[in-house]
Amino acid sequence: MSTNDMTVTRINGLIGAEIGNVDIASDLDDRVIAQITDTVARHGVVFFRDQDLSPERQLAFSNRFSLTGGPNENPMSLSQITMIEKEEQQLKNVGGGWHADQTFNPVPSWGSILAAKVLPSAGGDTAFATLAAAYDDLSPGLQAQLETMRAVHDNTRVITAMSQLPQYANANPKFVRAAHPAVIRHPLTGRKSLFVNRGYTTHFEGWTVEESAPLLQYLFQRCERPEYQVRLKWRPGTVAFWDNLQVLHYAVNDYHGERRLMQRTSVAGIALDEAGCTAAANTALAA
Ligand code: SIN
Repeated sequence: MSTNDMTVTRINGLIGAEIGNVDIASDLDDRVIAQITDTVARHGVVFFRDQDLSPERQLAFSNRFSLTGGPNENPMSLSQITMIEKEEQQLKNVGGGWHADQTFNPVPSWGSILAAKVLPSAGGDTAFATLAAAYDDLSPGLQAQLETMRAVHDNTRVITAMSQLPQYANANPKFVRAAHPAVIRHPLTGRKSLFVNRGYTTHFEGWTVEESAPLLQYLFQRCERPEYQVRLKWRPGTVAFWDNLQVLHYAVNDYHGERRLMQRTSVAGIALDEAGCTAAANTALAA
């Protein structure tokens, strides 16, 4: 399929696009992969409709976008394919709070790809919020201050909560933490973005948890404003592909008594410090 066949339709003013007329289970040529990469990096999250993705085809699709050339390593999961499930009798879901995936990794994942397998009769949306627009709207003074800071990301709290869920009882995930710049330059676009999230960011490097809390809470609240959001209403065959380096997401838990099953793969990213992604750097990989 040529790149001319693919359509891109913006959804909201600041985030989100729907990509049409492409079968992501097929062997896409490099130009189409480059165009999808560019669309994800520009819009933060993209949605594909009416797809039929086996686990193997989803993994093959994901690996085409790797920034390292290799598969993503996720210490939270033994498998390259993660099934995210909420059963009828469960009250808690996975991902029901604003976060970006795997920011606790020394090499954070660039992207996540999520395919709907079983959906509730209504609800179970996923909301996304742009950290890049949130950064743009901060005062120059706060932007400059944050650009000198690093933040610590830690998966302990999330692992502890997930281990209460029956499907993760035997998962044996590793506890991991890493520090990253609080403001990064996107490796593909060079655009600056906040890089903190409520799920995994615990404190600023060199600051205590208590000292960090007021500024972090302020930033979390800023990032979660409705203006920065887009909300996906899943349909059978919908696939979302989002950029963890500039977008938060939130799995809305409003469908108790019904089952929801999603299939997730992760796209390998790069070590942000080493790849010129600090705010002070003036180059991007794509520049
Ligand atoms: C996740 O947090 O990665 C899952 C999102 C969802 O299930 O909607």
